[in-house]
Amino acid sequence: MSATAPDANDRAKIALVGAGVIGAVHGQVISELADRVELAAVVDTHPDRAERLAADRGGKVFTSLTDALAAVDIDIVVVCTPTGRHGEVAIEALQAGKHVIIEKPAETTVAKTDQIIEAQRKAGTLVAVISQHRFDPSTEIALAAIEKGELGRLTTGIAAIDWWRGQSYYDSGDWRGTWELDGGGALMNQGVHTVDLLVATMGRPVEVFAYTDTLAHQRIEVEDVAVAVVRFESGALGVLHATTAAHPGLSARLHVHGDQGSIVIDNDLLTFIHTTPQGSGAAERSYGSASDSINQVENYDLTEQTGPTAGSTAGGLSPLAHRRQYENFLAALAGKEPVRVDLKTNRQSIAIITGVYESARTGKPVAL
Ligand SMILES: NC(=O)c1ccc[n+]([C@@H]2O[C@H](COP(=O)([O-])OP(=O)(O)OC[C@H]3O[C@@H](n4cnc5c(N)ncnc54)[C@H](O)[C@@H]3O)[C@@H](O)[C@H]2O)c1
Repeated sequence: MSATAPDANDRAKIALVGAGVIGAVHGQVISELADRVELAAVVDTHPDRAERLAADRGGKVFTSLTDALAAVDIDIVVVCTPTGRHGEVAIEALQAGKHVIIEKPAETTVAKTDQIIEAQRKAGTLVAVISQHRFDPSTEIALAAIEKGELGRLTTGIAAIDWWRGQSYYDSGDWRGTWELDGGGALMNQGVHTVDLLVATMGRPVEVFAYTDTLAHQRIEVEDVAVAVVRFESGALGVLHATTAAHPGLSARLHVHGDQGSIVIDNDLLTFIHTTPQGSGAAERSYGSASDSINQVENYDLTEQTGPTAGSTAGGLSPLAHRRQYENFLAALAGKEPVRVDLKTNRQSIAIITGVYESARTGKPVAL
């Protein structure tokens, strides 16, 4: 069934590669979508991990994708290996003509992401990169308001990730906190979601200037603090702040500001929105402050909103947002909608993050 969509009456057969923390979340989502997908193979270089996941969610166990593809008919390969091992797995799957879902970020560098893009071009199959918060109701409301011009001219955006990870987190996998396999620290691993939302809302970044440091952890190569300023193609300006050194760990926030409105998303939830619908003739006020600005959040249907721990599977991760992204991928396979987060989209986030690292290294602004 390679390179074509599964027949409408068939369940798409999935090979899940990497049965670690996020592999368990994908396993749960695949179980929840059992009317449309089937976990046919679970692959991990540690067979005990693959066996544990297969016992919970089904599928035959393998220690390499090569063996799985030789033994089982597969439609979709889901890549949940350490980031610096995404490319090799995804490219093998694409060369075998499979559709691919890759965990975030697509790879550790823009050049390696481009290699996957080239393999996809040759395969002609679908590839999605997980960026589950694109599917949060809060994000969809924000993007719709921006699209309709209800924030006016966008002026500034802030992505702030004030998290804490103990040393035990970095010690829990030998790939964590390494340049080669994690590709970076607080910004690349933890911050990439919020950077992706910043790019989705503010548009293409064109220049970045940054400082990074490692202030609260040992035995890691990468940063646990990154701060940066960004200039967007539209002329809007932005601020990035990402840390895993803010004890006890607060939230991930996105602020989007324009001359007609503002939006704040805090821990996936829409906590503030003020828009000026075009043509509404809302009076211009010469100044405004929190006390006289109006939070219009009650005007929106937020019943589907879910914070980071709703239905939590592992490490406080909610499978609900991942499920929404799977729904999009399955609809794309059926030709009903486009893949909403593709490789080129995720490449922009990787470019801004690797631009931050280059700027911090050289002490100079980096054009993206
Ligand atoms: N979307 C999210 O919110 C989210 C959350 C956590 C992790 N992630 C991403 O998921 C990926 C994995 O993270 P994790 O925390 O699950 O890591 P993990 O270390 O818990 O799991 C990775 C698994 O991959 C296996 N593995 C390594 N190389 C392999 C190979 N070549 N073939 C088969 N198996 C292999 C390892 O043995 C391990 O079991 C990373 O890219 C990370 O950024 C995304």
